[in-house]
Amino acid sequence: VGHIDDVIELRKTKPGTIPQRFVRDITERPTITTPNNKSLIITNHHHHHMPIIDFSKLSKHNTHDDEIFLHELLNLATACENWGFFQVVNHDIDLNLMERIEKMSNEFFMLPLEEKQKYPMLPGTVQGYGQAFVFSEEQKLDWCNMLALAIQPQHARNPNLWPKKPEKLSETLEEYSREVRKLCENLLKYIGLGLGLKEDEFKKMFGEAVQAIRVNYYPACSRPDLVMGLSPHSDGSALTVLQQAKGSPVGLQILKDGLWMPVHTLPNALVINIGDTIEVVTNGKYKSAEHRAVANENKDRLSIVTFYAPSYEVELGPMPEFIDENHPCKFRRYNHGDYSKHYITNRLQGKKALEFAK
Ligand code: SIN
Ligand code: FE2
Repeated sequence: VGHIDDVIELRKTKPGTIPQRFVRDITERPTITTPNNKSLIITNHHHHHMPIIDFSKLSKHNTHDDEIFLHELLNLATACENWGFFQVVNHDIDLNLMERIEKMSNEFFMLPLEEKQKYPMLPGTVQGYGQAFVFSEEQKLDWCNMLALAIQPQHARNPNLWPKKPEKLSETLEEYSREVRKLCENLLKYIGLGLGLKEDEFKKMFGEAVQAIRVNYYPACSRPDLVMGLSPHSDGSALTVLQQAKGSPVGLQILKDGLWMPVHTLPNALVINIGDTIEVVTNGKYKSAEHRAVANENKDRLSIVTFYAPSYEVELGPMPEFIDENHPCKFRRYNHGDYSKHYITNRLQGKKALEFAK
């Protein structure tokens, strides 16, 4: 990604300019244009909101015959089945840590471009600073710059791509990732229980988990109707945990019943979504929801995203529990390392990556 393709730099040096590479074809814009040329953002005006899961009702009442626990387990199962997305409150992640990671991430993105380019994200990789999922000169670019890093397993890390500035960023990423990992492990336990599985079933199936982090920075854009913050996609993970920085405008949208619905979250809540892996192993009972991010006209937006996925070594496929005469097997068995490779070497395109598993 060269100078002019860096959106933070673009916003700084030429506000109001939208290079052609960012201007989406009419059918791919986040807006529709009515016959009298009025732009409409496609949004869902239903009154229902994304489900809220109170994590403390699961973690602090974990006796399995406790009514509070069972009720919340049912809420969680319903959210996974009907939405593939939910927000978690009382998640036990230190609010001060969440604030620190936001602050340091912001500081990183505000560094001079030369500094950030010491950690270049190369095509076909999702580590370093730049833009992921770009493979050709013709491909439209998202209105977003990213810092992405492999966290687990240790040997997947590229230490040369861990920023040295701001000074405490690496250490804070480490601390944050540990906390989020615990949350993912617990959520997978509860998701398993809600499906009638043993609580350690996913843990055993996934082996030594892969964890990655991606910090997304979406500068304000004078024409948010022409660009896409992040192209529509489902995640290649098992679970994804998303923290939207305080003060950031709403930007995440999920495809719900055929309409793009903006995601409003409660203060300090984390947004969780089901990734492709869970869709495959549950044979489609739980689906990875398609989502995208849009840019905002006036405000920059920062999101911190953790991907939690199975070991690259494991073979996955639909579990026999989810296959019967009414639910024929929808996916083949495959190696998760191959799936990940496929995912990161193709551009984001709705749920297209999942076709690899068919
Ligand atoms: C993502 O899907 O990875 C990020 C979306 C967002 O920034 O809200
Ligand atoms: Fe995503």
